[in-house]
This record gives sequence, structure tokens and C-alpha cells, in this order.
Amino acid sequence: MQNRILVKECASHVAKSVTVAGWLHRLRNFSKFGFALLRDRSGIVQIVLTAEHCQLFQGLQNETIFSATGVVVQKPSRSGAIEYEIQADTIQIISPVTHQLPIEINKPEGIDANLDTILDNRVVSVRAPQIRAIFRVQAALLKGYRTYMDAQGFTECMFPILAGAASEGGSEFFKLDYFGRTATLTQSAQLYKQIMMAVYEGVYGISYSFRAEKFSTSRHLTEFNQLEFELGFIESQEELLIHAERAIRSMLRMVEEECKEELNTLQTTLPLLGENAFPRIDLSEALQIYKDDTGIDETNEPDLSPAAERWLSTEWAPQHHGTSFVFVTGWPEIKRPFYALPDPTRPGYTVTFDLIGNGSELASGGLRISNYEQQIERIIKKGLDPSDFNDYTMLHKYGIPPEGGFGLGLQRLTQNILKLSNIKEATLFPRDVQRLCP
Ligand code: 4AD
Ligand code: MG
Repeated sequence: MQNRILVKECASHVAKSVTVAGWLHRLRNFSKFGFALLRDRSGIVQIVLTAEHCQLFQGLQNETIFSATGVVVQKPSRSGAIEYEIQADTIQIISPVTHQLPIEINKPEGIDANLDTILDNRVVSVRAPQIRAIFRVQAALLKGYRTYMDAQGFTECMFPILAGAASEGGSEFFKLDYFGRTATLTQSAQLYKQIMMAVYEGVYGISYSFRAEKFSTSRHLTEFNQLEFELGFIESQEELLIHAERAIRSMLRMVEEECKEELNTLQTTLPLLGENAFPRIDLSEALQIYKDDTGIDETNEPDLSPAAERWLSTEWAPQHHGTSFVFVTGWPEIKRPFYALPDPTRPGYTVTFDLIGNGSELASGGLRISNYEQQIERIIKKGLDPSDFNDYTMLHKYGIPPEGGFGLGLQRLTQNILKLSNIKEATLFPRDVQRLCP
């Protein structure tokens, strides 16, 4: 639209006539005059209406699209902050809404409905200021990730979603009929990013991952995104941890810089990053201090329970290291996929890590096997058929440097840094066992 200014630009147009356009967020009609709240992508502004203008909205619902032309005036606000309103000269209805909205999205305190109702009506509910803010934060996280990876000289790649074999093992993958053959949906871009690492040395991608999670939890989806990277010519896992940590810092910095208003709308602050490097702790040591501090004995487990992850990242790390992030290293082979490098100094364990952040696991990563025979042996040991992985192991035959990488769940990260109780709140169009639409 020509001549249109954005709501946030009103401040620099005081006493001038402007045109704004957007959605009718709320209407108050006092018959002799009225107020319309107009919402555009940059904010919400109050439009002062005459009785004739009010007439134009007769029979129309919120979310009607309209434009307003009039003079911007500075308006005293109760809180003392400077606000602006527009004294309308002309109002034009651009796209009338006559159907009643299925859900109210204009309450200052947010939508008053349960999550399923909000998701059933996603087309409209995502416009609520408290929800759209979440996905602006997510966009800033993505931008922060790309900014960091590009600055490091990594090459961004797009990876396939349809594949012949599952990369992460287990039974949590989708199979589908592919012209009479069985295809799987990728659980991770793992195998492909390794192949491309052997071309560009440092690669990253924002991939789609699918997991056939049969149980609905507050932190699992069947479709999500991973921020992945893979790096060659590394001598130790520590190099991966440094990149992972710097990437997280870059992402949160981008949110700080670009999403002040959104954080305000969400009434939240970002978790503690801390001044020093994120702590690194071995899994067995983490389980021991968890037991010592809470009395809960999980020292015989090969894994961290959700409660232990929460305790480590929201109690132990903040108290002892001034951060909400912690790397847990030294995972047993049985918990890691076939490509994870066994620890030569510790039989039964791998050189891998998880990043736990503000409540739960955010990322997994580690060093990879680069020896062909060892890789074949590991595939067999995992009960898999090496012939299903011929394309992948071709990589190991024809020149693979020592390497590693990680995968970070985008929706999980968004959920944890914004302290959302369910991962579906951090997912635009979440999919789970029950939900496939919208
Ligand atoms: O831990 P995961 O399964 O690791 C991989 O896929 C490896 N290929 C990564 C690597 O480079 N070694 O998944 C990585 C991250 C998890 O830490 C979590 O944040 C997220 O992806 N994730 C999920 N997010 C939502 N729903 C699910 N079902 C998820 N499963 C994993
Ligand atoms: Mg993991």
C-alpha cells in the first residue's frame, strides 16, 4: 500500500496526517464517537472515530481489515509512557469480517482458552499478541544461529526429508509407501550433514525431523526442526562444545536485541547465560551430585530423567555456575546411535554430549566414527543391516576426516527460554498423535 506507515512509525509523524492499515483489534462505540484499535505487524494504535466512522463498522467483527487516515497526536497514558493515537478523517473498510470469531484474541491478559482450543483455531489464535511474540522470538533464534554459523565460515545446506533408512535407530520413525517401496521420514539430517561435511568441512542446516512419538508429552512433537552442524578436522569434543555454546549465546543475543517488545509482551526475561563457559559434567558425576543433593538415586540409570535434567539446569548450574546451561558428557553406547564414536579410553561409552538448558535437553552431539570397519561393526552391533547404509558408509571408505557435530531442537529451545509449559506453544503448527491440522 502506498503512503501507508507502520504503527511503530507514528512516533516520528506527530501532528502529521498519515495512513495506517491493519486488523480491527477492538472497537468501542460510544455512539457519538468511538475508538478502534488497529493492529499491524509492528504494533497496535488507537484510532479516534466519529459517529459516522462508527457506522462503517456496523455489523462487522474484530479482525476486519481497514485503513485509517488522520493526524497523529501524542496522548498522555496512565503509566506515564508516551503513546500516540490517530484522529481519523477517513476510514476505509478493506476486507470486512462478518463471521463471529471462534476465539477472542484481544484480551490484554492473553487468550482465555485451553491449548487444544487455541490450536484448533490456530489460524486466528496465532495473531494474538502473546502468541505472535513467541514466533518472533523463534525467528530471532534462527537468525542468531545463521549469523553465528555464517560468521564461522560454515556452508548452509538443505537436506532431504524422504530417506531409505533411519539414522537415529529405535522404533520412533515414520514409514511410508513410496511407489511400492518403504521410505522413512528423516529423524535428523545426520547422515547427510556428515556427507556434506566431507565436502565443505563445516556445514549447517535447519532441518525437519520426524519422530513417531506415540505418547503425548509436554516436550515431544512428531515433527520439529533441528539446528544442525557438522565440523571436520577436529581433535576433541571440546571444539564442538565451544561452537555449541557460542551459537546459543549468539541466538539469545539476537533475541535480546530484536525482541525487546516481544519479551515485554510475554512478561519474561531470558535465562541466565553466565559470564564463564557453560559447565561440563560427566553423566555419572551428574547422577551422583543429583543423588547427593536430592536423595533421588538414579546412579544406575544410563540416562538423565526429566527431573534430573530440570534440577541440573534450573538449580545446580545457576547456583554453582551462574548459568542455566550445562553440558553433560560421557554417554553409554546403548543410549547413542550407531555413528557415535566409542570412547577408546572407556569401554562401553561414547564421546558424546547433551546440552541441557533451562529445564530439559536442548541438543545432542558428539564425535563420529570415521573408520570404515569400525562403522560397519557398530551398525551390526546395533542390530542393523549394513547394506541399508551403503551410501552412508561410502563416506567412510572414501575419505572422512575426524569430525563431529550437534543437533539442537528449535521448538525445545523456544519453549525453554520462554518457559512455556508445553512445546506445542512453541510450534506454529504442531503435530502429535492426535493432531495433524491445521
Ligand atoms: O537428541 P536427538 O535425537 O539427536 C539427533 O537427532 C542427532 N542426529 C543430533 C546430532 O547431531 N548428533 O535430537 C536432537 C534434539 C534434541 O536434543 C531435542 O532438542 C530435539 O532435537 N528433539 C525433539 N524436539 C521435539 N520433539 C521430539 N520428539 C524431539 N526429539 C528430539
Ligand atoms: Mg538426544
